[in-house]
Amino acid sequence: MFDLQHKTLGEFIIANQDSFQYTSGELSRLLNGLRLAAKVVNHEVNKAGLVDILGGAGDTNIQGENQQKLDVLANEKFIQTLKNREIVCGIASEEEDDFIAINSKDENHQNKYVVLIDPLDGSSNIDVNVSVGTIFSIYRRITPVGTPVTMEDFLQPGKNQIAAGYIIYGTSTMLVYTTGDGVNGFTLNPALGTFYLSHPNMEFPETGKIYSVNEGNYIHFPQGVKDYIKYCQKEEGDRPYTSRYIGSLVSDFHRNMIKGGIYMYPKSSMAHNGKLRLLYECNPMAFLAEQANGKASDGFQRIMDIQPSELHERVPFFCGSKKMVEKAEEFMAKY
Ligand code: AHG
Ligand code: MN
Ligand code: MN
Ligand code: MN
Repeated sequence: MFDLQHKTLGEFIIANQDSFQYTSGELSRLLNGLRLAAKVVNHEVNKAGLVDILGGAGDTNIQGENQQKLDVLANEKFIQTLKNREIVCGIASEEEDDFIAINSKDENHQNKYVVLIDPLDGSSNIDVNVSVGTIFSIYRRITPVGTPVTMEDFLQPGKNQIAAGYIIYGTSTMLVYTTGDGVNGFTLNPALGTFYLSHPNMEFPETGKIYSVNEGNYIHFPQGVKDYIKYCQKEEGDRPYTSRYIGSLVSDFHRNMIKGGIYMYPKSSMAHNGKLRLLYECNPMAFLAEQANGKASDGFQRIMDIQPSELHERVPFFCGSKKMVEKAEEFMAKY
């Protein structure tokens, strides 16, 4: 039982504050803000079947997706928490057309960090009581402190990330994050409302036996992906692999990090850049993957090297155990 003798997330953030590259305490305040918002959204997600927050919100977001009520609610909670505390200078979200600039009340624009979020990931799973998540990505602004943030502050390559993480609202609720010094996972004790360090130094096994891809799209995939899927299914050595696909990136990633596996959302003849968004889905997961001894690629190059050109840009995504991602890249390189 996690209780008084175990380290809490709050304690961990303070204890590790000095190892950050920039030690103003601002990043700690930001992580604490995200921790608080996570608890609020967790509470909402948990009671979703009891109150009228299941189903569609009746609107579409900028990417043409039908917004779920919980997409909208989670978006509001994270933005409110970060805005009210004035701990960031800007926020970009899957559910907002443009970034939101946050000016501090004293008009000094002193905050240095911008946050990009996918407030609710896997929202098609909400109505059927399957795990969903939240993904966040944190950068230091590029433009000078004291001026309003601009698009340039958000369109940074993933390798510039200061921190990234996710919350998984699963059988347990966990917050998993990195500040560039490994990946640590914290489990929420719902009775106390406290996150405890339950998974220190998380790492992808070097290789694994799980492949996660929406095989319903097989016919539309590039030949390299088709060949790799056939390779996964072939009876040889430690194969065939097991196929596991939840349809919630956070949940598929979390399982693969613990058990060993590869997640793929390739481009297809229907979606030329795949579906996942570079800035608030792929980059944060790529940072976590690399910090956990895994790998993330668009099939040809490192995700975190890509220079983004727009907020809601999509990119093909291959992520997981290093050897498996390398093998998938080998097949991609043939075409
Ligand atoms: P979101 O719910 O934030 O829009 O993200 C959904 C994403 C991702 O979580 C998941 O892996 C993928 O969409 C599933 O897409 P398909 O249903 O096309 O497989
Ligand atoms: Mn969505
Ligand atoms: Mn998502
Ligand atoms: Mn989402």
